[in-house]
Formats: sequence, C-alpha cells, structure tokens
Amino acid sequence: MTGRAQLIVALDVPDQERALQLVDSLGPDLDYVKIGMQLFYAAGPGVVETMLSRGLQVFLDLKLHDIPNTVYHAVAGLSGLGVEMLNVHCAGGSDMLEAAASAADGRTKVIGVTQLTSIDQLALNEELLVHGSLQDCVIHYGRLAQRAGLQGVVCSPQESAMIKREFGPEFAAVTPGVRFDEDDRGDQKRVATPARAVEWGSDYLVMGRPITQAVSPSRALQRAKRSMEVQQ
Ligand code: C5P
Repeated sequence: MTGRAQLIVALDVPDQERALQLVDSLGPDLDYVKIGMQLFYAAGPGVVETMLSRGLQVFLDLKLHDIPNTVYHAVAGLSGLGVEMLNVHCAGGSDMLEAAASAADGRTKVIGVTQLTSIDQLALNEELLVHGSLQDCVIHYGRLAQRAGLQGVVCSPQESAMIKREFGPEFAAVTPGVRFDEDDRGDQKRVATPARAVEWGSDYLVMGRPITQAVSPSRALQRAKRSMEVQQ
C-alpha cells in the first residue's frame, strides 16, 4: 500500500457493551478498529454493524482456516457485512487462499496470516515442525498470498521491510506486536515500537493492550499516532 500508515485498535473485550465503552473512551482520534474472535463470537455480526454505524472502519480478524469451499462461503458472508479488511491463514494453502480472494471479489481486502507474532524460531521448528527460518517461512507464505490475489499479509513489524522488498509497495504489511516499550512484550515475541513499525514499512499497525489497558486509552492512542507521524 502506498500512503500513510494507519493505526488499528484491537477491541479485545468480552461483549458489545464493553466494546462501546472502549470506543467512547478512545475518543475522536479513533478511526479504525479490529474485531477479533473474542468479541465477534460473543457479540455476533451485529457488533460489526454497530462499529460501522459509528463511522469506524473495521478489520475483521477471524483468521479463517478451513477447506476452500467453506472459506469461500465464509468470506462471501463476511464481506457482505461491509468490513474493510479480513484475514485467513496462509497455512490453508493456495486453493483456500484463491477461494478467499474470489469470494471477497474486491469488496474487502483479504490479508493472509503468515506466522503469528507469538511464534518464535524455536516454536516454528520444534512445535509446528516447519523447517527453516521464520523469515523464509514469512516470505514463502507471502508469495502464496500474492499469487492467490490477496492484498497483503499479517506479519511482525520486524518483517515489514522484507515484505515490501519482496512483494512491492502495494502489497500491505499488517502488523500486530506493536509496543511502546520493546521490552514489554507479554505473549508477543516479535515486537516493535510504533515509530519503528512505520519506519520499517508497516501499512497498518494493530495495537491492543498497550492502548486499551492504559490508564487513559485516548492518551495512549494519541501517543501512538504522534510517534507514527514522526516517521511519515
Ligand atoms: O494486545 P496486543 O497489542 O498484543 O494485540 C494484538 C492483536 O492482534 C490481538 O487482537 C491478536 O489477536 C492480534 N493478532 C496477533 N498476531 C497475529 C494476528 C493478529 O497478535 N498474527
């Protein structure tokens, strides 16, 4: 993607009421939210409509991974909700990725999850039994995604520069694992600050807990946006 990077706040809360409280506490600087499994499974598709009616853009982070036919119909239904972006696991393979791209039919950006930012080199090799380096795996999955007609990948900010180099500026790097302090990783392993994520080429920065669990979520949101601005 060309243009300015966008900040997406992850609404990882248990129900719609708390999602709306969070949206209110984030204030007017909020323009893009991520609805993941926790909220979507609890609140249902109505929560998407609610966020859209508030003028927010929605990234639906359900990480679909199933046989091509099932993913095709799931993506067709979810695109109809009017979300800007949704994602599928690249590990589902090329046929599944092509099915997702064709079901979205240009209405919604379809993004491929490469490797979760909670997975490190050791887990990749010894638990998932995927050989080689994390970087090679991310590039390989990126190639599958681009060939299948997806609009970008979810990866770590540490991999954004590599994604841009390999796949060009129009192929989006969507990056969770963003932290104000790189030592404060929690369950994420491959993290970066907002400024670095932008510097390295991330197009969409996904931030959850560092903003939503801050004493003042609106100030944390402003802080993240300011630090992104410095790089653009
Ligand atoms: O709280 P935190 O900033 O770690 O939130 C990151 C968000 O991004 C979570 O909602 C998580 O589910 C999501 N995500 C991720 N890694 C991926 C894809 C999505 O952490 N590869």
